[in-house]
Amino acid sequence: MSPVAEPQSHALEAMGLGFRVGGATILSDIDLAVPAGGFLGIIGPNGAGKTTLLNLLSGLLAPTSGSIRLEGRDVAHVAPSARAGLGLGRTFQTSSLFNALSVFENARLSALARLGGSGHFWRRPRSRDEASQVAIEVLADVGLSSLADRPTGLLSHGDKRKLELAILLAARARILLLDEPMAGVNTEDVPLLMELIGRLHGEGRTVVMVEHHMAVVVGLAETIAVLDSGRVLATGDPESVIANDDVQRAYLGQPL
Ligand SMILES: Nc1ncnc2c1ncn2[C@@H]1O[C@H](COP(=O)(O)OP(=O)(O)O)[C@@H](O)[C@H]1O
Ligand SMILES: [Mg+2]
Repeated sequence: MSPVAEPQSHALEAMGLGFRVGGATILSDIDLAVPAGGFLGIIGPNGAGKTTLLNLLSGLLAPTSGSIRLEGRDVAHVAPSARAGLGLGRTFQTSSLFNALSVFENARLSALARLGGSGHFWRRPRSRDEASQVAIEVLADVGLSSLADRPTGLLSHGDKRKLELAILLAARARILLLDEPMAGVNTEDVPLLMELIGRLHGEGRTVVMVEHHMAVVVGLAETIAVLDSGRVLATGDPESVIANDDVQRAYLGQPL
């Protein structure tokens, strides 16, 4: 998190990032730096701006001030698809899967989007075979092989979350932005999903995770940033952030 480190050492960096809309300031002066292979947890009360921050980082929204660097490149105004091509992958607070398609098809489409991007028709049949192989591989990786043929809409919340991670793996994402991956997941499925996210990180991926479930954030994140009213209230290792007086005050009356 050192501000003087060379840009190449950061997978993702936000500097002076701000977002205003219709006269309202949603985010201001956001400075964050995630080293390659790091794990940043983002916590904060509802409405703090956590999802908006992920929207800026992934490119769904353009910042009104500041910059975003992805592995040293300025991407603040680069489209989400181009950021995905640079290795950035994102999941949503509410699941964004094709519910009518099978689990396998959801994973395959993600691989195909990456492999078939050239537009050369003669490469397509090969891409289709390759995409199927990738889908088989990533479903095995997240433990969903036995559900491959099931319509996605019939999956449990926990299995949908696993499939969302498989989709990022099929897209070959190296930097994962996860928006509340435990939302809607049964308590008994939380440890399994936590283990999976920890493993994906352990394999060298960089993770930025917004999550309400404090045990999950503290268990996985190396650094925690606390957002409150659109600002970074505190950043640091999990223990010091939780002990921080400002953080305690911001969460007063809410379970931490
Ligand atoms: N595009 C937008 N236009 C207007 N208001 C927005 C927009 N996006 C987010 N907001 C507002 O910004 C604040 C932060 O929202 P959000 O990022 O979803 O918070 P969180 O994810 O921390 O709960 C909320 O008050 C929300 O209503
Ligand atoms: Mg949110």
